[in-house]
Amino acid sequence: MPRFIETDGMNILLGISGGIAAYKTPELVRRLRERSADVQIVMTASAEEFVTETALQAVSGHPVRNNLWDKEAEASMSHIDLARWADVVLIAPATAEIMARLAGGAASDLLTTLCLATESPIVIAPAMNHVMWSNAAVQANRKTLEQRGIEIIGPDSGSQACGETGAGRMSDPDEIAAIVCGRNSSRGAAPGLLDGKAVLVTAGPTREPIDPVRYISNRSSGKMGYAMAAAARAAGARVVLISGPVDISSPRGVETIAVQTAEEMYEATHAQIADVDIFIAAAAVSDYRPDSVEAQKIKKNDATLTLRLTRSKDILASVAALQPGPFAVGFAAETNDVRKYALAKLKNKQLDMIIANKVGSDRGFDHDENTVDVYWQGGSKSYPTAAKTALAEDLVLLIAERYEAVRGTGTQPSLARPKHATNPEKD
Ligand SMILES: Cc1cc2nc3c(=O)[nH]c(=O)nc-3n(C[C@H](O)[C@H](O)[C@H](O)COP(=O)(O)O)c2cc1C
Repeated sequence: MPRFIETDGMNILLGISGGIAAYKTPELVRRLRERSADVQIVMTASAEEFVTETALQAVSGHPVRNNLWDKEAEASMSHIDLARWADVVLIAPATAEIMARLAGGAASDLLTTLCLATESPIVIAPAMNHVMWSNAAVQANRKTLEQRGIEIIGPDSGSQACGETGAGRMSDPDEIAAIVCGRNSSRGAAPGLLDGKAVLVTAGPTREPIDPVRYISNRSSGKMGYAMAAAARAAGARVVLISGPVDISSPRGVETIAVQTAEEMYEATHAQIADVDIFIAAAAVSDYRPDSVEAQKIKKNDATLTLRLTRSKDILASVAALQPGPFAVGFAAETNDVRKYALAKLKNKQLDMIIANKVGSDRGFDHDENTVDVYWQGGSKSYPTAAKTALAEDLVLLIAERYEAVRGTGTQPSLARPKHATNPEKD
């Protein structure tokens, strides 16, 4: 059987139908490929109105199929071979029309013919105007498809391309990729691994106001923390995310609390910490804040301006010092001597685990990929460069294993460890 790209991931046949959300499919392909999937694409005629074959060919690395009667394509890999090749058929976006054709058992074009010819699971991510989605005919088709074992992802609620608000948005490409690749992936935290556990995650930067229009902050995008929260949720945990100001949407099923300053993040963390099993501190909390905040905008009257700064409270150390406290995981973002600083932070703050990454203008903050080394008392593990979303799945798996090792057996090293001094040293 022909196979164009050798990967250790799944063979995913992506069917794209003619909804406006088709413009998001090049990103979806990238997210699937980041998870080592080999992706071949079949488009309906209407889908070609919304996204180009050229873009999809470039991101998938395969010619795109759009015609049942393409003799050349049939000669190199017949539609039956393509149906057999697929480990899963994913249709995203799935229009009301394709749902009707699938429910009716049609084989009127390449995509519907493939769906009848495959023995692999079919997953669809519907996307349409919210009134269309709530239409009785569409809901009847949804029910029929579900009863036949077709898995339905979404749709999500929110503002729609048509300017209205309601249920009908295609789920986030990253979420679709995580669900589809997580079905039989060997990587990442398996669903159910953290069932019954409460996980608290901090993410993003903090902003420390100087005056009503200025603040001190850092380059953290929040992507790593959000990915950790999503991965913990996917592993079955109840997840609360405390987030500084970022530009990404809250992971599905995660309660997100928005804060601005380090002080607010400290207060929100301690308001949530009771009964938390695992605390993951991925936020880049400002170490210092201005002594005082000017009530009015500071004018540029003088050639120099001196700001006096005060140390922020150390959120991670304060949580790690709780007795009893959660399994405490920190992140160390360093520009140099990463290992040395990470090990010092692990020891000084008496953490259960530290995830160290090098940051700079070309890596770490605000990038989609990351490379990390993880340390704990008596062990370490290195992870090669990977998408933050995929890396988060692996890190959650490691955290679950370490949690089980130190808390699951009845031995609780962090409960037995010596108490901190009242004001633990920050690095
Ligand atoms: C601008 C525009 C946007 C559309 N967006 C959607 C959509 O988001 N969801 C949907 O179900 N249909 C949408 N349609 C209608 C479908 O394109 C139409 O039903 C088409 O027959 C679907 O064919 P297909 O499922 O074979 O791709 C849209 C049509 C237009 C003109």
